[in-house]
Amino acid sequence: MAYKFKKIPNHLAIIMDGNGRWATKRGLPRNYGHKEGVNAVERTINYCLKYGIKYCTFFAFSTENWKRSKEEIDGIFSLLRSYITKNDDLFLKKEVKINYIGELTPFPDDLKSILVNYVKKTKDFDKLTITFALNYGGRDDLVRAVNKIIEKGYKNITEQQLLQELDTKDLPEPDFVIRTSGEQRLSNFMLYQMAYSELYFSKVYWPSFNEKHFTKALKVYEKRKRRYGGLS
Ligand code: IPE
Ligand code: IPE
Ligand code: MG
Repeated sequence: MAYKFKKIPNHLAIIMDGNGRWATKRGLPRNYGHKEGVNAVERTINYCLKYGIKYCTFFAFSTENWKRSKEEIDGIFSLLRSYITKNDDLFLKKEVKINYIGELTPFPDDLKSILVNYVKKTKDFDKLTITFALNYGGRDDLVRAVNKIIEKGYKNITEQQLLQELDTKDLPEPDFVIRTSGEQRLSNFMLYQMAYSELYFSKVYWPSFNEKHFTKALKVYEKRKRRYGGLS
C-alpha cells in the first residue's frame, strides 16, 4: 500500500535538470543523460498514479534551450519522438491524459502531429493529466497571451481573462514545484502561474530521481503552510 499523505499537491510541476551533468560525470555524451531522463519521466508518472497526483507538468524544453548544439537538440527531439510513439498503448492503458504547453511551431512536423494526435486520443481521461512543456517560456506564454488579448480588441482585462489566454488555461495553478540538480531558479518556467507555488530543490540529477526522492519531496510539501498573504 502506498503511504497516504495527509496533503498532496493537486498540480505538481517538475523542472527536470541535471541530465547533462549526470552523463558527464559518467564519461558519457550528454544525450545519454537525456535518455535516462526519459526513464525518470516514466517512473515519475507511475509515482503520480500511485500517490494520487492529478496534474503533473514536466519542463522538457525551454525557449532558451535552442541555444544548445544542433546535435543535442536533435537528440532530444528524437528521444521525444520515440518516447511518445512507444508509450502510445501504455498511456491509453494507464488512462493518462496527455497535454502540452509551449509554442510547437518550430518543432519538426512529424513530432507535432504525433503529439497533437496523442492529445486528441487521451482527451477524455481524467485520472492524471500529464503536461509536457515544450519550447515553453513563462515570458513567451505571457507575451503570446497579451497578443491574443490585443487581437480580441480588449481595452483592459481582469486576471481571470489573462489566465484564460495562457497556455495553462485548462490547468490549475501549480501547488508544488520540484527542481532537481541543485540549481535554485525557475529558468523562465510558469512565471505568472507560480505566484504562490511552494518550491522544492533537490540536489539529485534528474536521471537518478526515484521514488525515495519523490516521497521525500512530498513529505516536505505535506508540512508546508500556505498562507497566500493571509494569516493561518
Ligand atoms: C535538463 O538537463 C534537460 C533539459 C534542459 C532539456 P540539462 O540538459 O540542463 O542538464 P545539465 O543542467 O546540463 O546538467
Ligand atoms: C531548465 O533547465 C529547462 C528545462 C528543464 C527544460 P536549464 O538547464 O535549461 O536551465 P538553466 O540554463 O540552468 O537555468
Ligand atoms: Mg540544466
